[in-house]
Amino acid sequence: MSLKEAATAVREKAYAPYSQFKVGAAITGASGTVYSGCNVENVAYPEGTCAEAGAIAAMVAAGETRLTEVFVIAGSPMPVTPCGGCRQKLAEFGEGDVRVTMATTGGAEQVMTLAELLPGAFTPGHMK
Ligand code: THU
Repeated sequence: MSLKEAATAVREKAYAPYSQFKVGAAITGASGTVYSGCNVENVAYPEGTCAEAGAIAAMVAAGETRLTEVFVIAGSPMPVTPCGGCRQKLAEFGEGDVRVTMATTGGAEQVMTLAELLPGAFTPGHMK
């Protein structure tokens, strides 16, 4: 299954009764395995989690901590961009040149790198 297919399929599983905004994310681990996740909302709104966070959790639970590609899809008028927090979460596990494809269910796509999405990222190097 391609990243796009995985993200599109998992988006259908999103639990988004409050925003009605379903998001699917799929990432490729360094092994080549694809991991996917959807947003999971909560009546206590700040407790909801993004699709990207779910995909990262699935990757880490499977024993991988490096990702090489990301695909995010939503039914938005323009390609959905990961929120600020998810950009930092993705940067934890991917290099700056990782391709992030942002897509709409209508077929629009935009590609950016992680470094473009999160310039000046806070990294472990800052803590030395
Ligand atoms: N959301 C994601 O899951 N990923 C994104 O990249 C953007 C936003 C979710 C969070 C919330 O459940 C809903 O979209 C509306 O913000």
